[in-house]
Amino acid sequence: MESTPTPHNGAHIGDIAKTVLMPGDPLRAKYIADHYLEDVHLFNEVRNMLGYTGTYQGHPVSVMGGGMGMPSIGIYSYELYEFYGVESIIRVGSAGGIDPSVHVRDVVAGMGACTDSNFAAQYRLPGTFAPIASYDLLERAVAAGRAQGIEVKVGNVLSSDHFYQDDPNATATWQKMGVLAVEMEAAALYMNAARAGKKALCLLTVSDLPLTGESLPADERQSSFTQMMEIALSLALP
Ligand code: ADE
Repeated sequence: MESTPTPHNGAHIGDIAKTVLMPGDPLRAKYIADHYLEDVHLFNEVRNMLGYTGTYQGHPVSVMGGGMGMPSIGIYSYELYEFYGVESIIRVGSAGGIDPSVHVRDVVAGMGACTDSNFAAQYRLPGTFAPIASYDLLERAVAAGRAQGIEVKVGNVLSSDHFYQDDPNATATWQKMGVLAVEMEAAALYMNAARAGKKALCLLTVSDLPLTGESLPADERQSSFTQMMEIALSLALP
């Protein structure tokens, strides 16, 4: 098998499915492979950023960790799109709710991703790029949620470079623009997808509300994650 020139991924061409689910935590990728996929094989262990390919309801799907923050997901998603022929990446992660309509356990889909990062500067555009989800994936995710009795809250998210903010009002400032939730990766994923002419979607389970201090207990994180996972996996089906 032909190997690829990437320093971060040990997969060979053909090892990775056209659709990749991407949690931040590589052990979450292992959990998804162990619990939802059949005929699983491990394709990456470089830096312990575990990646697996298997089948879901008979259809190929891969799952790989993407790490935390835009530089990390930027590297892994770039390589998947540009070197491995991946067509769709669905980030499955957690987020902090910002808009008052958003509560812990909610499932949010990032239709757009605002950001405080400088990721877009590399494209040298004469204005501000608006990173957006694939409408096809977004529409299918909303429909899959509806079929499963899960409301997917759709709107803007904030992809921040900062989990710990020096300015205590920074996150609240985005609330006035109707931003639903804060996370740390969607904008880079959406920009890489746009540049590659591919598809991306960010699905999020709300784990905390940074503006009130409320947070989901650890034992409840898994069950709310399960609902989002079932929506995400349905996007790997034809
Ligand atoms: N992911 C989950 N909660 C978050 C928060 N409060 N800020 C950034 N990313 C998050």
